[in-house]
Amino acid sequence: MISLGIESTAHTFGIGIITDKGKVLANATDSFKTKKGGLIPNELGWHHEKVKDTVLKNALEQAKLELKDIDLVTFSQGPGIPFPLHVGMKFAKEISSKNKIPIVGVNHCVAHLEVGKVLTKAKDPVLLYTSGANTQIIAYEAGKYRIFGETLDQGIGNFIDVFARYMGLGFPGGPKIEILAAKGKNYIELPYVVKGMDVSFSGILTNLKRKFDSKEHKVEDLCYSLQETVFAMMVEVAERAMAHTGKKELVLGGGVACNKRLREMCKIMCKERKAKLFVPENQFLVDNGVNIAWLGILMGKIAKRNHKGIDIKPYERTDDIKVMWK
Ligand code: ATP
Ligand code: FE2
Repeated sequence: MISLGIESTAHTFGIGIITDKGKVLANATDSFKTKKGGLIPNELGWHHEKVKDTVLKNALEQAKLELKDIDLVTFSQGPGIPFPLHVGMKFAKEISSKNKIPIVGVNHCVAHLEVGKVLTKAKDPVLLYTSGANTQIIAYEAGKYRIFGETLDQGIGNFIDVFARYMGLGFPGGPKIEILAAKGKNYIELPYVVKGMDVSFSGILTNLKRKFDSKEHKVEDLCYSLQETVFAMMVEVAERAMAHTGKKELVLGGGVACNKRLREMCKIMCKERKAKLFVPENQFLVDNGVNIAWLGILMGKIAKRNHKGIDIKPYERTDDIKVMWK
């Protein structure tokens, strides 16, 4: 069986193609970028409208397939921004009806977790999911992927991006902050906000902005201290989830996991606990259609030929999903 997945929750429009054996046949994406400023929800939708046909063409070319070879169309139902989500769903429905292919909508966060498992061969991991909009520590227990900890305000990537924008670095800010952080060496004290198993970034953001405005610190040191502080928070909560569940595997997901320092810190923690760290390739950490296509394979049983009742779910949570494929 071959599944084609469409991702459009935020700034990335992606189409991935994967087989039911977990073989990736294509991963085509086009992401909205700016030199200055941030994401504007409407612009994301228009961006996706503009690029969707080219991304589909690229994906089919990579896979050396035609639409008639596709057995299942999958799309990201949520969580995400309504307009871009709509563009993805509309396109999925169009492909499904024109080519008479069954369609299924899936949860974006669960897709990050499941693709991490199939690509790394982790069996029963804790997932540290750190992306732009999402920050969650997830693990399977009793029929659902449970959220053990999460952000109480913005996602870690958005937090990093907002501070980068404040410093005039443009979007996405994560890779730029990583480069600056590598040149910093003086740790500047920042608030460290872990509440139970949850984390929060807004106070740290305010503090960083004030420190930046004061011009008392080197930008490199601020970026270094930002990374050391918020990554330590993430590692602490991930470790606590592993201790609580007794699980011996950690899988990383989400664009912020491209960061080498975060990976290094996770590696040290896992080594100390005699656990294993699994990191999918960067192209599968960031938003992409392969994640979505793979969860489609797992949920294929509920795919439908008619589109009645199929809609986007902008606020759907990881623990709303019953894991019936396990
Ligand atoms: P989601 O819908 O899952 O929240 P998203 O589109 O917001 O997805 P991703 O594509 O998973 O997010 O990741 C984008 C985020 O990753 C951006 O916030 C970006 O700054 C951050 N990022 C990318 N590379 C790095 C890096 N090297 N270090 C830190 N952050 C990074
Ligand atoms: Fe994502």
